Amino acid sequence: MKWMILFFITLTALFMPESIAQSTMTVTDDPLKKADALDSLRAKGLLIFTTPFSRARGFGDGPFIPSETQTVEPGKRPTLQGNGSFLRINGLDAQSCNECHMIIKHGTFPPTLGIGGVGGIATTALIQPTMVDVADSFDIRTKYVYGFDPDSPMNFDGKCDFNGRASNPPFLFGGGGIELLAKEMTSDLQTFLSTARNAAPGTVTRLITHTVDFGEIVSGENGDVDLSGVTGILPEETTGLTPEQMLVIRPFGRKGDNFSMREFDRNALQFHFGIQSVEVVGQDVDEDLDGIVNEATIEELTYLHIFSVTNPPPFTDNLNSRAQAGFTTFQSIGCTYCHIPEINTDSSFLPLAFPEVETDPAMNVHHFINLKDVGFHPSQGSGKGIRVPLFADFKRHKMGPFLTESFEKDRRVFANDEFQTARLWGVADTKPYLHDGRATSLTEAIDQLGGEAQFARDEFFALATEDREDVLYFLSRLRTPDNPNEELLDLAASLAAESH
Ligand code: HEC
Ligand code: HEC
Repeated sequence: MKWMILFFITLTALFMPESIAQSTMTVTDDPLKKADALDSLRAKGLLIFTTPFSRARGFGDGPFIPSETQTVEPGKRPTLQGNGSFLRINGLDAQSCNECHMIIKHGTFPPTLGIGGVGGIATTALIQPTMVDVADSFDIRTKYVYGFDPDSPMNFDGKCDFNGRASNPPFLFGGGGIELLAKEMTSDLQTFLSTARNAAPGTVTRLITHTVDFGEIVSGENGDVDLSGVTGILPEETTGLTPEQMLVIRPFGRKGDNFSMREFDRNALQFHFGIQSVEVVGQDVDEDLDGIVNEATIEELTYLHIFSVTNPPPFTDNLNSRAQAGFTTFQSIGCTYCHIPEINTDSSFLPLAFPEVETDPAMNVHHFINLKDVGFHPSQGSGKGIRVPLFADFKRHKMGPFLTESFEKDRRVFANDEFQTARLWGVADTKPYLHDGRATSLTEAIDQLGGEAQFARDEFFALATEDREDVLYFLSRLRTPDNPNEELLDLAASLAAESH
């Protein structure tokens, strides 16, 4: 396989922290062929992804400080019964990334385990609750109240109230294509915005990029803009955000809240393991007071980012005539209103930056990765881009009462009933389904879709049994990659041996 990296020396590189400049140097000076150099960066990232973090490496949130009150924030969390290591609810819930991202294919017997896949129900993360009503006794109480009355009447209804979020781990496959599309869309949206800022009051600017319609901007006086017509990407609470920040595509996370895999990865390190990266807390800063500084360096985040975005994409298995018929029905009943089968990028080169600027993906770029080299197919026709067969639209939709979460108002950013359209590529292999992993089959998942998807769900269940089976048969063709990252294992093993 041939790998290609372009190195980009921009003026901004001069202002990069020394550590990242050094990491670029190492690669340039690498005695290996450039082709191997990318694999070696990927293998280093894979090692970080799979190696359990130890306390000596910075695992954990450090000693608890009794005066601390922001106890749901990483760095300040208590541990379960004071065990000093884990909490399990609200993070501190694993030792390695792969503990949760380990199931490559559910569609084989036995299920195929590996690196970068989905998680089962046991790995569903419980994010920021302060109240879990396990005994099902206080279901009228949606918010934890200090000094609640323990003698108030029990009210059992089979619903364990919970004021956080529950999220089932998705896979990392094809993440590079998703990140590239999101960055290209963001650049387009920012261009639309600056056009709208300069246009006469009352001018309407349509936000259509890469076939997705994000609504419109209406120009006001003096460069002001009205974003109330923007669809699918605005958070519930927009106070304090600039229009530029609101027009950023954030495809990662089930709510759609991280614009790059690097952003997700550094948050994951902190949330799950209490590993504080330099780019979060600063160089030589021991923010969680565990005696360890630089728990994840800028280079390490770069390796993790490179590993994350070079995970190979899912693929569509041969569509025979039955699967083709199922696909046609999938389109005709409205599923593709949100699950857009394929979107093309403009370029095949994914820019990786540090420091990242979410509103301008072209800033501070230190690597370009050619996604044609990690398994993406070139776009058809004269385009220079790649095809991303994601079956999604990068938008959040209202999904109805069944799926509505109960995350507390003062701690949430997104509406409880909104979720980013799940990408259906690979869906044959990724049980369980829906944001918290509640659906044990595709039919159950489709059955629970409500709100904006209610019409399509109803059409699906109104189909003749045979047509419905064809749709499911079509979905069973959407497979996760075979043997993802296998080519890196020997290299990763030798790197691991060297570091011991
Ligand atoms: C305890 C289980 C768990 C661990 C450990 C874990 N993850 Fe995840 N991961 C999740 C869950 C749950 C989500 C979905 C989160 C959400 O909805 O916001 C997720 C989502 C992701 C995503 C976004 C995927 C997408 O397409 O939206 C990336 C990237 C990711 N994880 C990387 C990592 C990395 C890197 C690590 C290790 C530093 C890690 N994860 C550790 C559970 C886990
Ligand atoms: C209005 C947009 C919309 C429409 C229309 C829609 N979906 Fe979805 N779909 C979503 C969203 C959003 C989710 C994620 C919900 C969640 O995580 O709780 C989802 C989730 C799914 C899932 C679960 C995927 C997973 O990995 O967990 C399946 C399967 C699915 N949809 C199939 C379909 C089918 C089949 C149709 C047509 C009958 C359809 N959807 C129509 C928005 C839509």
